[in-house]
Amino acid sequence: MPTFLPLLCKSLTSSPLKTLILLLTTTSVFYLLFLHYPPPIFFLHAPSLSTRRAAVNTTIHHLLFSIASSSRSFSHRKPYLRLWYTPNSTRAFIFLDGPPPPSTPTDPSIPPLLVSGDTSRFPYTFRGGLRSAIRVARIVKEAVDRNESDVRWFVFGDDDTVFFVDNLVRTLSKYDHDRWFYVGSNSESYEQNAKYSFDMAFGGGGFVISHSLARVLARVLDSCLVRYAHLYGSDARVFSCLAELGVGLTHEPGFHQVDIRGNLFGMLSAHPLSPLLSLHHLDNVEPLFPNMNRSQALEHLFKAVKVDPARILQRSVCYDRSNSITVSVAWGYAVQVFEGNQLLPDLLSLQKTFMPWKRSVNINSSHYMFNIREYPKDPCKRPAVFFLENVLSGKNGIRSNYMRHIVGNCLKTNATKNLEQIIVFSQKLEPDIEEMKAPRRQCCYIVPTFNESMVINTGHCRVDELISTHL
Ligand SMILES: *[C@@H]1O[C@H](CO)[C@@H](O)[C@H](O)[C@H]1NC(C)=O
Ligand SMILES: *[C@@H]1O[C@H](CO)[C@@H](O)[C@H](O)[C@H]1NC(C)=O
Ligand SMILES: *[C@@H]1O[C@H](CO)[C@@H](O)[C@H](O)[C@H]1NC(C)=O
Ligand SMILES: *[C@@H]1O[C@H](CO)[C@@H](O)[C@H](O)[C@H]1NC(C)=O
Ligand SMILES: *[C@@H]1O[C@H](CO)[C@@H](O)[C@H](O)[C@H]1NC(C)=O
Ligand SMILES: *[C@@H]1O[C@H](CO)[C@@H](O)[C@H](O)[C@H]1NC(C)=O
Ligand SMILES: *[C@@H]1O[C@H](CO)[C@@H](O)[C@H](O)[C@H]1NC(C)=O
Repeated sequence: MPTFLPLLCKSLTSSPLKTLILLLTTTSVFYLLFLHYPPPIFFLHAPSLSTRRAAVNTTIHHLLFSIASSSRSFSHRKPYLRLWYTPNSTRAFIFLDGPPPPSTPTDPSIPPLLVSGDTSRFPYTFRGGLRSAIRVARIVKEAVDRNESDVRWFVFGDDDTVFFVDNLVRTLSKYDHDRWFYVGSNSESYEQNAKYSFDMAFGGGGFVISHSLARVLARVLDSCLVRYAHLYGSDARVFSCLAELGVGLTHEPGFHQVDIRGNLFGMLSAHPLSPLLSLHHLDNVEPLFPNMNRSQALEHLFKAVKVDPARILQRSVCYDRSNSITVSVAWGYAVQVFEGNQLLPDLLSLQKTFMPWKRSVNINSSHYMFNIREYPKDPCKRPAVFFLENVLSGKNGIRSNYMRHIVGNCLKTNATKNLEQIIVFSQKLEPDIEEMKAPRRQCCYIVPTFNESMVINTGHCRVDELISTHL
């Protein structure tokens, strides 16, 4: 049989059939080999190979969170910590600047408290800055030096960083923890990045260092702390030391430092096609949902996060040509109904509902790291907005409801004038590693004819389906 192959090749040099015949021949060779003869010995090992592979998947157990806090602030930040920390499941420590106030009861709903080591011997020369930057940077070393077992990823954040832990686990699974990785994101503010660095992971948004890199960084960090005494923050110290080790930032757009103020609607309703990993500075922005206080609003968002973490804020856009409307779903948060046919690329830019971080900066001359478009001051010129009401999970999928948020007394004259509620049906999003590496936006479809209530189905787009008004 094998001697037949070269002969065939020679006689069919330029035929288009050549490839096909070769393929068929090869297939039959394999067929004969494996069905007519005992399988080669390596095949007997296949099951153990697959179990080994299954055992190496990254899980929540492989992440160690180290949170920078202070004995003054940690008790106010408990509501944030409780959102993402699950006792006996999330591995985390809170690093304080000193012992907690006497008679602080041990609270199992937040991570265990540790007191950072003394850093008074390190110089700090940034005028008007805070020495605590040294202590916070050194948490990296103190976390590693605890020798906790089985840590693949060291995660760092502040006590007002809200993590989306399932998404973090899934995202980190894309990377090899045995290689050197520094994963995070920079600031939303162009000015902040220009001042600190476009290549630095901003600490409040949270960042992650693979265990292999963290162990080396821990060994050399103290010398960097001396060399970078002139820098302002802790994140700049870590970044500088990693730069000296020759490592650059792996950018994950799901981390959010949130260096903006005011209403985050424009940012949350246009999240990138990447899982939401963190939100920071939530004390400095308006509550995420109207008519709720900050902690209520976050808990409300987490009702959706708990049902389908990978889908939270993920956007689908669909069209109703007969009524000339465009619907944009930011799952688990809000749905917007625009008049007319809005092209998808235009919807990718963020509606400017927020203000710059620096209060001194002119609101019109600040620059952001994304495209923005105006959000009309006149509420009647804005798209109709529907905020998450509830999420229900059943055996046939997930149903999320969004209720209309009325602002101002606008003359309602068109197809959406009676629309009060939008119901979105979806299946739980569970992307595997390959889908994480090459994500594709899902499609959505408006069920024809709606009056007070609109039904939308979401799901995978067909291979060549375009997100546009279909003809
Ligand atoms: C490990 O990951 C692979 C690929 O995502 C998946 O098919 C497999 O089921 C996972 N194994 C476990 C034990 O979760
Ligand atoms: C966590 O583990 C401890 C001891 O291992 C146990 O006593 C406690 O009930 C567990 N808590 C939860 C919420 O599972
Ligand atoms: C961690 O391991 C190192 C080296 O084995 C050792 O010097 C150090 O004391 C250990 N730290 C703790 C907290 O056990
Ligand atoms: C927010 O509202 C909840 C429920 O009404 C209440 O328990 C909580 O104290 C409020 N929080 C603040 C900071 O006002
Ligand atoms: C910003 O621009 C808007 C619209 O052009 C204008 O009404 C407003 O006065 C400007 N604000 C400042 C602080 O310049
Ligand atoms: C729908 O209402 C908007 C204002 O909310 C208006 O600009 C638009 O012309 C109306 N469209 C139709 C078809 O009546
Ligand atoms: C639509 O809903 C309104 C009440 O909001 C009702 O008066 C009207 O009859 C409904 N139209 C249809 C076609 O069902």
